[in-house]
Amino acid sequence: MNKDVLNGLFRPKAVAVVGASATPGKIGYTVVKNLIDSKYEGNIYPINPKASDILGLKAYPSVKDVPGFIDAAVIVVPSTLVPQAVIECGEKGVKGLIIITSGFSEVGQKDLEAQIVQSANNYGMRILGPNIVGSLSNSDKLNASFAPFLPLAGKASLVSQSGALLIAIDAATYTRKVGFDKLISIGNMADVSIADIVEWLNEDENTTCISLYIEGLKDGRHFMEASRKARKPIVALKAGVSAHGAAAAASHTGSLAGAAKVYGAAFQQAGVLQATDLDNLFDTTLALSLQPPMNGENLLIITNGGGVGVLATDAAEKYGLPLKFAPADVQAELKKHMPEFGSAKNPVDLTGMAGNEWYADSVRFSLSHPWVDGLVVLYCETAMTDPQEIAIAIHKAIQESGEKNKPVAVSFVGGERSAQAMTWLVEHGIPAYGAPDKAVNALASLREYARIKEMAHEDTSICKNENREQALKVINAARAEGRESLTEVEAKQVFTAYGLPVTTTTLAHTEDEAVQMANKIGFPVVMKIVSPDILHKSDAGGVKVNIKDEKEVREAYQAILSNAKAYKADADIHGIAIQEMAPWGTEVILGSINDPTFGPTLMFGLGGIFVEVLKDVTFRVTPVSTSQALRMLGEIRGAPILGGVRGEAPRDRKMLADTICNYSSMILDLADEISESDANPVLVYEEGKGVKVVDARIILKKK
Ligand code: COA
Repeated sequence: MNKDVLNGLFRPKAVAVVGASATPGKIGYTVVKNLIDSKYEGNIYPINPKASDILGLKAYPSVKDVPGFIDAAVIVVPSTLVPQAVIECGEKGVKGLIIITSGFSEVGQKDLEAQIVQSANNYGMRILGPNIVGSLSNSDKLNASFAPFLPLAGKASLVSQSGALLIAIDAATYTRKVGFDKLISIGNMADVSIADIVEWLNEDENTTCISLYIEGLKDGRHFMEASRKARKPIVALKAGVSAHGAAAAASHTGSLAGAAKVYGAAFQQAGVLQATDLDNLFDTTLALSLQPPMNGENLLIITNGGGVGVLATDAAEKYGLPLKFAPADVQAELKKHMPEFGSAKNPVDLTGMAGNEWYADSVRFSLSHPWVDGLVVLYCETAMTDPQEIAIAIHKAIQESGEKNKPVAVSFVGGERSAQAMTWLVEHGIPAYGAPDKAVNALASLREYARIKEMAHEDTSICKNENREQALKVINAARAEGRESLTEVEAKQVFTAYGLPVTTTTLAHTEDEAVQMANKIGFPVVMKIVSPDILHKSDAGGVKVNIKDEKEVREAYQAILSNAKAYKADADIHGIAIQEMAPWGTEVILGSINDPTFGPTLMFGLGGIFVEVLKDVTFRVTPVSTSQALRMLGEIRGAPILGGVRGEAPRDRKMLADTICNYSSMILDLADEISESDANPVLVYEEGKGVKVVDARIILKKK
């Protein structure tokens, strides 16, 4: 990130509008008018070859004719004229280009887009867009866009990949009372990426929360890196989670991975909160932009109504912050601020008799008590109270408590007066919501943010147990035969090169060899067809298990060969694998895909029906450390099975986590080679007894 250039782009001291027009209705007119209407204090230079004056401002035929410096140029000439405009801006020494013009990669004009980026970069300029609405900043009184006005002022900044949505959000900031400092439209992301803007906003003094509307990232890993380093909360709404999914995947993992899962994993790893919908994006942004993270699990709810208290209690459980009873000393003190029939347990029910003072006293006391980590204050409009006075009392009590590190959210349920009181609260830095569950969800987001930040400090050291050369030898030999999938025997050789504990597997080419090998491995053994043309071995009758003696080896050898030939007459048969028959263990699956956005990505789940039917799996973008792998084991619904159920001993989770870590090293190190892979099943034994990879599959990248 070149900070000076991006400062020029997003916080310019002088702006040119290339394609400014005196004709109302044209975008070139609207942009100039918006700059004037937003009371921008820097110089505005309309650029137009024919006009001498636009909206009362002196116009120039070219940026090169402008006497003073220009930080940013908003470009609104048709796409065919953009390359020349870029060159002139470069010659003038402009820092950033806000290219509103459409007609580039979004309509297949990729070369034209690449050309303007190259040209701009040659001059040291950066491009926002093209195909955008523009960029708006309240703190700079800058509306360099064709969105009608600056958003309601606030501390969050939003980056949107959809221009139309940005305009809609701009208007909605006023009705929803969620304030923003900057709204940035990013369009085609030809040059400046979301990651670049996250890095820049992280340094922006007027932004406390970064809010993102994402359709598809181009540079997944850069985004993760920028987000992980950010010292501010980031909340993202990812749209289009259903499109990219399970299309024609060669592996099990490929069919289970979809944009929703992989983006979800990447966001979590990068410390990005994920909004569930647009409504939630607003709600979460409001909380994150105004309140500190919640550094513990203890949520206290204060209410004047039992009903909203129960709704909030349900929501607390739903959003992962289940309520606990307040300790005795907290209850005793709170009891002083309610009638006899109130309840101080949690939710704290001050009853319908609660007035300003009871609210103020209980809020002040609760925030100052060390047990309380976060507070939700609920209020149902009553005939005896004035919502505005309650709001003032709550705000004053928060101030008086002196507590700055515990978050508070409020919900007033009622009519117009309650709505006005909530607007006042938001203006005074307290997030307020029309429904109790939303206030609870706001605190859950602040708790989630604190958790994510804690996780960022966990051990991220990766396993380095690799023999790349050995793996490449196997892969190159397969490629030399024109193959893009490895046989099980080959895949296991690659796995072994990265320290993965596979079952002993040898390849027999004759019946006698098979007998010899089985004797060496020790009975019982498993025998499997090895053919690049038969990926689904069981379906082809190519697998025989629990073979106990020489006679059975010979029978199985013949049976497997004839089954394979019947399945696919011209199959290229490498031989028959003779394998150690691993004792029973809990079946799990590991797998990988090479995600187009995030690169090598790993999947873990329980095997058998858990993966087939329930799709109970979890993903991580590599690298995955052992402690991150342990966390993955706890994420699936079937996690208790690994802990040992129905009197079974706990499974060897430590060894499984180490195996995941080694698997991660393998797919990361061989990212240029492996497209998809599965280790399925992997058998997990009792604690201390390790794991065994029973079957392995690797699909190579096309070269
Ligand atoms: N330098 C400066 N101004 C120039 C110029 C040059 N080299 N060449 C022409 N102009 C002037 C034109 O004369 C015109 O001014 P005028 O009204 O005084 O004649 C002005 O620039 C605009 O050019 P015009 O040809 O009238 O274009 P337009 O306004 O019809 O369309 C865009 C231009 C950029 C708005 C249009 O091409 C476009 O891309 N629209 C879509 C924008 C959009 O939706 N973006 C994405 C949102 S998500």
